[in-house]
Amino acid sequence: MAVGVPIWFSLLVLTAVASSLAQISAEETESKEFVLTLDNSNFSDTVSKHKFIVVEFYAPWCGHCKKLAPEYEKAASILSSHDPPIVLAKVDANEEANKELANQHEVRGYPTVKILRNEGKVIQEYKGPRDADGIVDYLKKQSGPASAEIKSAEDASSLIEDKKIVIVGVFPKFSGEEFENYIAFAEKLRSDYEFGHTLNAKHLPRGESSVSGPLVRLFKPFDELFVDSQDFNVEALEKFVQESSVPLVTVFNNDPSNHPFVVKFFNTPDAKAMLFMNFSSEAADSFKSKYREVAEKYRGTGISFLLGDVEASQNAFEYFGLQDSQAPLVIIQTNDGKKYLNANLESDHIAPWMQDFKEGKVRPFIKSEVIPAENNEPVKVVVADSLEDMVLNSKKNVLLEFYAPWCGHCKKLAPILDEVAVHYEKEADVVIAKFDATANDITNDSFNVQGFPTVYFRSASGKISSYEGGRTKEDIIDFIEKNRDKAAHQESESPKDEL
Ligand SMILES: *[C@@H]1O[C@H](CO)[C@@H](O)[C@H](O)[C@H]1NC(C)=O
Ligand SMILES: *[C@@H]1O[C@H](CO)[C@@H](O)[C@H](O)[C@H]1NC(C)=O
Ligand SMILES: *[C@@H]1O[C@H](CO)[C@@H](O)[C@H](O)[C@H]1NC(C)=O
Repeated sequence: MAVGVPIWFSLLVLTAVASSLAQISAEETESKEFVLTLDNSNFSDTVSKHKFIVVEFYAPWCGHCKKLAPEYEKAASILSSHDPPIVLAKVDANEEANKELANQHEVRGYPTVKILRNEGKVIQEYKGPRDADGIVDYLKKQSGPASAEIKSAEDASSLIEDKKIVIVGVFPKFSGEEFENYIAFAEKLRSDYEFGHTLNAKHLPRGESSVSGPLVRLFKPFDELFVDSQDFNVEALEKFVQESSVPLVTVFNNDPSNHPFVVKFFNTPDAKAMLFMNFSSEAADSFKSKYREVAEKYRGTGISFLLGDVEASQNAFEYFGLQDSQAPLVIIQTNDGKKYLNANLESDHIAPWMQDFKEGKVRPFIKSEVIPAENNEPVKVVVADSLEDMVLNSKKNVLLEFYAPWCGHCKKLAPILDEVAVHYEKEADVVIAKFDATANDITNDSFNVQGFPTVYFRSASGKISSYEGGRTKEDIIDFIEKNRDKAAHQESESPKDEL
């Protein structure tokens, strides 16, 4: 499956942001707008006049854009009196004339915010917070030098906070190839990390004073707390930072300062092991240390580890079709989309189960509702566990709707499918069925479900086709008549007729 942050995690983060935004009062009065409005006619002109400009690509209908708007405006008003002023702009990417512009800037979702430097020659993704104060702080840092000089212990302690990754270069002098590479590297990754440089390692926390460099020290709020590298090749630096900035075990709970690391976790190309448990329970410490041992053992073998608190994991549980009562549990998601589950486990079981998983002895876990005891409605209910019996091996003609409970078009289609089902009630070889694709995994590749509703037809002899016709009773019956295999006794008669 695609690498990337899953919807259940995005939901949690967005909800957290939304609730913090809700607290900000609507004190804007209709006055001067500080955010510049740009469109395709004046975008390049405007950008080419700025060393540093921030552009939000938005769509008028997008809820997160509406939430961001007052914060963005407030930040723009504060930053207009920064020295030099920092300009914030917006582009309605939904406007036909601006679509090309949005494409050029790789806008794939809304809002997308970009930082454009050097008259637009360097473009970076905005990765800061979405509240006014957070935007202001982040952009002040982004508009300054990529790496800040550390001249005192105070400088160091204001840069190196407890909950962030901060990278510091220690140099005998601020010149030469190593220093230049370091600054180039800082420019490149400045929207992801904070950078500093110093002539004196004594200023650094936890640093022994004998270090004279050149050396790069990465401070992190987990594991060994800092790591050093002396390879100043820009690519080597990047690799060093990427590898050192993912915790051995990523922690997922309601603390937002952990969320950037969760994003990194989901963006690794590795298989993902997730242990969900109640962090307040008595057994928590034992689980944490056993899990850590396992993570240590499999470090570098293509699997990353996350430890999640059930208190923060409702969305994750829903997504995987799990119950709170199954915790503590480990679920592993591999890149081919398969899942492996060990529920209600004890801390001593983690290691042997991982071993079994690595040796290919664990069977994939399939999310399924329970097979309904009664299935007497005209439209039959199919779940993951009955897909084979009721559809694939049924030797019947099955029209199967994949739906989501929240989907409006599905709700419109439901009474029509009912009528079709009633129409075929007397014909045992035709089944009209539905499958809740949010509560059940689709275990067969023949069904490609990208949106709802998706309707497939499987003929009695096994020919699978997707239904693309009109959503009326007549259209659907017409389709079934054209594609169904007639009952077996008719089939066996017809060859004789042809002889
Ligand atoms: C760009 O053009 C649009 C419409 O043509 C206008 O509303 C907007 O104010 C212009 N922006 C600037 C910075 O000139
Ligand atoms: C977690 O454990 C604490 C303490 O035993 C308990 O009060 C809380 O309800 C539990 N939370 C969940 C989601 O089970
Ligand atoms: C999907 O179902 C068909 C039978 O209709 C079967 O031949 C095929 O092997 C199944 N594929 C998977 C991945 O289970």
